[in-house]
Amino acid sequence: MTPNIPRTMGQQFGRRSWAEPWKIKMVEPLAETTPDQRARALEEAGYNTFLLKSEDVYIDLLTDSGTGAMSDRQWAGMMLGDEAYAGSKNFYRLEAAIQRHYGYRHILPTHQGRGAEHLISRCAIKPGQLVPGNMYFTTTRLHQELAGGRFVDVICDEAHDTSSLAPFKGNIDLGKLEALIRTEGAEKVAYVSLAGTVNMAGGQPVSMANVKAVSELCGKHGVKLYLDATRMAENAFFIQEREPGYADVPIAQILREFCDYTDGAWMSGKKDNLVNIGGWLAVNDWDLYEELRNQIVIYEGLHTYGGLAGRDMEAMAIGIEECVQDDYMRSRVGQVQYLGELLTDWNVPIVKPVGGHAVFLDAKAFYPHIPQSEFPAQVLAAELYLDSGIRAMERGVVSAGRNPATGDHYYPRLELTRLTIPRRVYTQAHMDVVAESVKMVFERATETRGLRMTYEPKYLRFFQAKFARL
Ligand code: F0G
Repeated sequence: MTPNIPRTMGQQFGRRSWAEPWKIKMVEPLAETTPDQRARALEEAGYNTFLLKSEDVYIDLLTDSGTGAMSDRQWAGMMLGDEAYAGSKNFYRLEAAIQRHYGYRHILPTHQGRGAEHLISRCAIKPGQLVPGNMYFTTTRLHQELAGGRFVDVICDEAHDTSSLAPFKGNIDLGKLEALIRTEGAEKVAYVSLAGTVNMAGGQPVSMANVKAVSELCGKHGVKLYLDATRMAENAFFIQEREPGYADVPIAQILREFCDYTDGAWMSGKKDNLVNIGGWLAVNDWDLYEELRNQIVIYEGLHTYGGLAGRDMEAMAIGIEECVQDDYMRSRVGQVQYLGELLTDWNVPIVKPVGGHAVFLDAKAFYPHIPQSEFPAQVLAAELYLDSGIRAMERGVVSAGRNPATGDHYYPRLELTRLTIPRRVYTQAHMDVVAESVKMVFERATETRGLRMTYEPKYLRFFQAKFARL
């Protein structure tokens, strides 16, 4: 396969610039802070950007989760909320949108992605089983572990190499997966957990050829294949851009074809589906659906609302239609690529190729003098905030947590700081400001010191841990 990655979206047309396929109808003022105010706010937050108040943040790139701007159609849809406890009209609209665009048979709404992860993990994992997947995600792996499973990483080796330009660094390594199934036995494998795109690898996509091959391998051994569809529409964009034979296929059709190779999916609607809250779970198998439907009433709500208001389901149904539009997706991923190119031009070390939802800074390359036990990616997020009020997120040793068996830190090969771009929120001028701040912080890198952890919560510690300067 030839990597065919255009340097800029616009270069295809002989120029650099592109414009968003929308205009701004409502604005929210941004506050700027002084360096002193930021130093104080960061100290109070224990050097953890999750603990900053959003009013102290200038450009918020903490996450693309629930931070997008809804369209006028979605806001209009909110007014059509049918707030019935059971059988809301909006549920049936959501169900139809998921069936149409993702293709699964049985649909359950959930309050957000981890609600769906909880249910599928409870119902599809028996204690002691293995869950192979293409790199862990924090909440996904935790739910798999809480259900008694053990996550096994079977992603391709290129995923761990920040400089590899392989076009589909999210792919499962078929050799690793097959060896695992053969040595452990298919009955020991709960299911294969496939994510498109792979968040922790830098938003890297999975190819259609890979999902097809994984699906065949699973079929041969009677193992189910479930998809984390959170950013699967963005993954479909990369297939269109890079995989031979898909250049002229609409994103909606690519998404559907990909999902058809899988047996079900869980979803954080707060990403691709363009809502501020919501998620869903979808499976083809009736018996599993029945079990999930039994459990959902305990943990989320009745199976026709799953913790959401009718208006939330309506907004998500419309968001699904909008996220599969080619012009929307080109501008979405194009904005991320624009930021990545600026940084590349200035020789700032980032994960390449640039992924779908974020630019990931290589903190190990920023701070070769700071050992991983002193949290270089956490340091980098703190430095960015101090420089300009931009909020980023650690995706390294803090996010990786501890091995439940040994109690030691997991030391992931990737020690990254994520600049996550909310959907339809910031403009190209904001991206310029971000790039300039990253460059400043990079130029000062040799003077920067590490952190020590002063407070560590039991689960998902990156959210609430506190640090102090060494
Ligand atoms: N799967 C992936 C790939 C995710 O990125 C997330 C959330 C979830 C599942 C869980 O969904 O937040 O709706 O419960 N990722 C956010 C992030 C938190 O910032 O990357 P959720």
